[in-house]
Amino acid sequence: MKLELKDFYRVMSPRLTVLVSTADKDGNHNAAPFSFCMPVSIDPPLLAIASAHKRHTLANIKETGQFVVNIPGEMLVAAVEKCAEPLPKGESEIIASGLAPGRSETIDAPFIQDAVAYFECALEWVKDAGDHQIVVGRILNAVVRDEYWSEDGFAFQEAMPLLHLSGRNFTAGDRLIMVP
Ligand SMILES: Cc1cc2nc3c(=O)[nH]c(=O)nc-3n(C[C@H](O)[C@H](O)[C@H](O)COP(=O)(O)O)c2cc1C
Repeated sequence: MKLELKDFYRVMSPRLTVLVSTADKDGNHNAAPFSFCMPVSIDPPLLAIASAHKRHTLANIKETGQFVVNIPGEMLVAAVEKCAEPLPKGESEIIASGLAPGRSETIDAPFIQDAVAYFECALEWVKDAGDHQIVVGRILNAVVRDEYWSEDGFAFQEAMPLLHLSGRNFTAGDRLIMVP
């Protein structure tokens, strides 16, 4: 069947869901889930998120030039949903959702201690893209919990990164498909 054009992205799913944590210039913390997110360069290490125009996250990134991309595991699904609720600017979704902020090594924006991994980013550029803006960040520090990294790489079956389908529906891919 032909899709309504506005629904194309719903078929591009499930999508890795990240929690982007930021601080405003007064140091107030913020966090919000983003599933429009992808790596764009390995060297230098760059990633991109796409943000709708009115997000506090976007305002904070433009204000400070800093953000952290946190990878939540399946067990944080309730907190991720809570972080998507609109709170007044300056109120921390990290605290409201029962998560713990940590002090980042390279930037002032906090990371989320409960995450499987996190990437501290400095803003490279922002560009208009339709009803969103693309935000590209340079990763200054990348941390993964010891138990989820080995010589085999990322232990995704244990970490169970959260993947968004649509609305309130998520999945966590734990099936390994090995091509012989
Ligand atoms: C699973 C999930 C994924 C989302 N992905 C995005 C996204 O990629 N871009 C976006 O602008 N908003 C996205 N949202 C909506 C924002 O997280 C939501 O509007 C949030 O309240 C924004 O918070 P902020 O204003 O503090 O930045 C998503 C929401 C959920 C639940």
